[in-house]
Parts: sequence; C-alpha cells; structure tokens
Amino acid sequence: MTNHLKLLSATALALACAGTFAGLAMAQPMSYVLPEETAVFKPGPGVEAAENNCAACHSADYILTQPPKMGRPFWEAEVHKMISAYGAPIDEKDAKAIVDYLAATY
Ligand code: HEC
Repeated sequence: MTNHLKLLSATALALACAGTFAGLAMAQPMSYVLPEETAVFKPGPGVEAAENNCAACHSADYILTQPPKMGRPFWEAEVHKMISAYGAPIDEKDAKAIVDYLAATY
C-alpha cells in the first residue's frame, strides 16, 4: 500500500517537473550565440580551392597549426595524404592549386 502511494507521488512529481520545463521552454524564445569562426584560411591566390576542399572534415586550424614555411614538398605530401589516407574527394587540378596556395601562403 505505501509502496503504491510512493509510486503515485513519484509519477506526479515527474509530471509536474516535465510541465514546468515545458512551460519554461515555451516562455523564453531559444537563442543560441555561436562562437565566432576563428579558423579561416589566409587570403591568397587559390584560397577558394582550399576553402572548398580542405574544410569539409576539419577546420582551417589544422593547416594553421603546422610549422610555418614548410615548403611545397611538405604541403604536396599533406594534400595527398588527405586524399589517399583519409579519402578526401579532391581532383588533381584542385590539389595542385591547393598545394600552390599552401606553399605560398603558409
Ligand atoms: C576526407 C576528410 C578530410 C579532408 C577533405 C581533408 N582532411 Fe586534413 N585531415 C583529415 C583527418 C582525418 C586528419 C587527421 C585528424 C587527426 O589526426 O585528428 C587530418 C589532418 C590534417 C592535418 C594535420 C596534420 C596531419 O597530417 O595529420 C593537416 C595539415 C591537414 N589535415 C590538411 C588538410 C588540407 C590542406 C586539406 C585540403 C587539401 C585537407 N586536410 C582536407 C581529414 C581530411
């Protein structure tokens, strides 16, 4: 008997809580403040190719956090690693433009 009552009051409490939350959610319009986009590609010739192909899986941070002035062979290897190891769908023409851009800009 007492167990039964406890169960009932627990249910009532749960319902009351759900009602309160629903009421709060309706009373206040939801607004989200998104963090500002901090990781952007540096401007330069070919930046569109990088924006279109290199931001699908991770942010531009990954490029920015590489040591500077690594040169063309490094970026060539990096871009081809994205393609062969991680399956990035980048065609040869774009890959070349991206390597040029990265080598010149980073
Ligand atoms: C298909 C998904 C995908 C695309 C598209 C992609 N990457 Fe990556 N990238 C990855 C993954 C997965 C990692 C490894 C993540 C980790 O280790 O946390 C990575 C890591 C990196 C790193 C960090 C160093 C390293 O070798 O792990 C760099 C630099 C990088 N990517 C550059 C690029 C550039 C430049 C492009 C455009 C040509 C690109 N990525 C496009 C998936 C991708």
